[in-house]
Amino acid sequence: MLKVGILTSGGDAPGINSYIAFLRAMLWEQYHGEMEIVGFRFGYEGLCNNLFVPITNDVTTGIKRLSGSVLGCNKGFFFGSDKGKAALATIKKHQLNYLIVVGGDGTRRGLEETLFPAIAAANDSFLSSLKIIHASKSIDNNNASMRSFGFYTAAEEVMATFDKLNATAKTHRRFFVVEVMGDNSIELLLSAFEGGADIFVANLAPVKLSYEELTLKTATAINALVAEGKSYGSVALMEKTLEKSQSGDQFALEVQKLLKRPETSIRFVDPGHLLRGSTPVQRDRELASRFALATVKAIAHGRSGTIVYNSGKTQLIPFDDRERMERVGELRIASVVQKLAVLRMAGAILIGLPDEENIV
Ligand code: F6P
Repeated sequence: MLKVGILTSGGDAPGINSYIAFLRAMLWEQYHGEMEIVGFRFGYEGLCNNLFVPITNDVTTGIKRLSGSVLGCNKGFFFGSDKGKAALATIKKHQLNYLIVVGGDGTRRGLEETLFPAIAAANDSFLSSLKIIHASKSIDNNNASMRSFGFYTAAEEVMATFDKLNATAKTHRRFFVVEVMGDNSIELLLSAFEGGADIFVANLAPVKLSYEELTLKTATAINALVAEGKSYGSVALMEKTLEKSQSGDQFALEVQKLLKRPETSIRFVDPGHLLRGSTPVQRDRELASRFALATVKAIAHGRSGTIVYNSGKTQLIPFDDRERMERVGELRIASVVQKLAVLRMAGAILIGLPDEENIV
């Protein structure tokens, strides 16, 4: 009997539930029902504290279309050798052959910094034979995978936000400054382009801009657009560009003070976590199904590693094959560079965006 444990860690991303549902269905087919899946609650916390729920057909029915994670997620929990030992005790208790961790970079770090050293230190033949799969999900798309599931849905939401705001902006001769999530990656920010954003502001270039420079550059860009005859528009502002102590409303107010045409008003909008909560779009559900297929194939062949999606296919990259991982990462960065070229050619104004060497 195959025994698989699964946990979902980091920030939730639309498509996690689709992945869990596809995985259960595919494992059932592959092993003719001779399998059990144990779902750990709230990421590594459930693994350490043995909080679990059996993943049955009943649990997965109807969840492919739900955002969030039926298992719950937790961030930044899995550090230190005590947690590593606790996780191993749970793995032994359930006699798991496989552990699947669904998450982004932080989740993978949890494996590398806590679980792998704990397994090495345990010197236990059962634990040494444990196989592990990391399925990369992220709304930020900031890991080596060309695409992680969750990104398409969040990007649609970013685009839709700008679509909606541009309608009211036009009516009021207004520019909206909209904060966009993305952690350290500009990919979500750039998806505002398809929603009609004119100006993209971050502070990721090697030379950091002061608050005053950010304000001035944004106002200058708006003034230039207005001088060209544009009466309304929008600014995509990368999250964390403003310090915690600086409010978006204040930023908008200060930009407004520097505007040359008095009729132009500025408003600040922060969609925040709304970007994470939409119903997963078809592409994310499909991607989740492909990640599930790659997981089942890896299990059938007894392999461990990270599953990534690249050039239309999923691949399993062994944890120690850093070179291959980096190559996929380079392709993803090349695609961001190309998108930036599209934006520049279309006249988008870029402020404080990273140059080619600094894109992550
Ligand atoms: O990683 C997903 C993400 O939504 C990032 O875009 C954002 O920086 C972060 O998580 C927000 O984290 P939290 O949910 O802890 O506020």
